[in-house]
Amino acid sequence: MSVLDQFLLTGEIAVITGAGGGLGSELAKILASAQASVVLVDQNLTSIQDLAENLRKQDQQATAYECDVTDADAIHQLIEKIDNEHGRLDVLVNSAGILGADDPMFEIKAAEWDAVMNVNLKATWHVSTSVAEFMIKKQTAGRIVNISSSLGGRSQRKRIHYATSKAGVEHLTRNMAMELVKTNIRVNCLAPGWLATPMVQDILNGPQGAHWRKAIPMGRAADPEELTGALLLLASKASSYMTGSVLRVDGGYAYRGIECDE
Ligand SMILES: NC(=O)c1ccc[n+]([C@@H]2O[C@H](COP(=O)([O-])OP(=O)(O)OC[C@H]3O[C@@H](n4cnc5c(N)ncnc54)[C@H](O)[C@@H]3O)[C@@H](O)[C@H]2O)c1
Repeated sequence: MSVLDQFLLTGEIAVITGAGGGLGSELAKILASAQASVVLVDQNLTSIQDLAENLRKQDQQATAYECDVTDADAIHQLIEKIDNEHGRLDVLVNSAGILGADDPMFEIKAAEWDAVMNVNLKATWHVSTSVAEFMIKKQTAGRIVNISSSLGGRSQRKRIHYATSKAGVEHLTRNMAMELVKTNIRVNCLAPGWLATPMVQDILNGPQGAHWRKAIPMGRAADPEELTGALLLLASKASSYMTGSVLRVDGGYAYRGIECDE
C-alpha cells in the first residue's frame, strides 16, 4: 500500500449523520471522494436525497436514510437497514448537531438546554454505541469520528449549553475509545473552529462579523474543504495508532492568548 493509499476508503461503508447540513454535506463529499460508499443520514430527507443524487451523478456511491438521531427506535431501524442493504459499516461520522438559542445562562430554558444536549451529546453516544455493537458483531476494524467544536475546549458567552455539549463530546470520545480499545474500533474527535457554513454564516455576515474574524488568529473562517486532511486521517487506516484524540482544525482559535500589544 502506498503512503497516500492509506487515506482511501475503497469498498468501505461510511455513515454520516447530519449529512444534510452545511458541514455534514461537505464531510460526506470528502468521504465519497476517498472512494467510500456513503450512507447519508439526516432528519431532513430532501436535503440528503438531493446530495445522494448529485454524488451518484459523479459516479460515487451514496444512499440517503431519514433518521432522527434522538429517537432510539429510529437508530435501531437505521442499523437494520444498513445491515440489510450493505451488510457492513466501517466508518461513522457523528455530525448531526444544533447550536441552540443565543442566550446567556440565566435565560436559557430547560427545554432548550435538553434539546442541545440530546442532539449533540446523547445522540452521539447512542448512535456510536449502536454502531460499535454492529461493528463488533461484524468483526470490523471500525472508525468513529465525533464532531466537536473549538468551543469544546474554551468558553464563549451565550453558548454555555452548546460549549458544554461539545466538551462532553470530547470526553465521550476519550471514554468510548478506552471502552473499545480491545475491539479494533478506534474513536477520535474532529474539532473545527469557525466554518463558512449556514450554521454560522449569519453571525459572520452580521454586524459582529468583523469582531469574530478578528478573534480568529488566522483572521478568517475555514472553507469546509479545509477539513479534508484531518477527516481522512481520522476516518482511515492512516490513523491506525490514534484513538481518543481530539484534533483541532480552527485557525488557532482554541489557543488564542491575550494580545497585550493591541
Ligand atoms: N458550521 C460550523 O461553523 C461548525 C463549527 C464547529 C463545529 N460544528 C459542528 O459540526 C456539526 C455540523 O454542523 P453543520 O454546519 O453541518 O450544521 P447545520 O445546522 O448546517 O446542519 C446540521 C444538520 O443536522 C441535522 N440534524 C439536526 N438535528 C438532527 C436530529 N435530531 N436527527 C438527525 N439530523 C439532525 C439537520 O437537519 C442538519 O441537516 C455540528 O455538530 C456542529 O456543532 C459546526
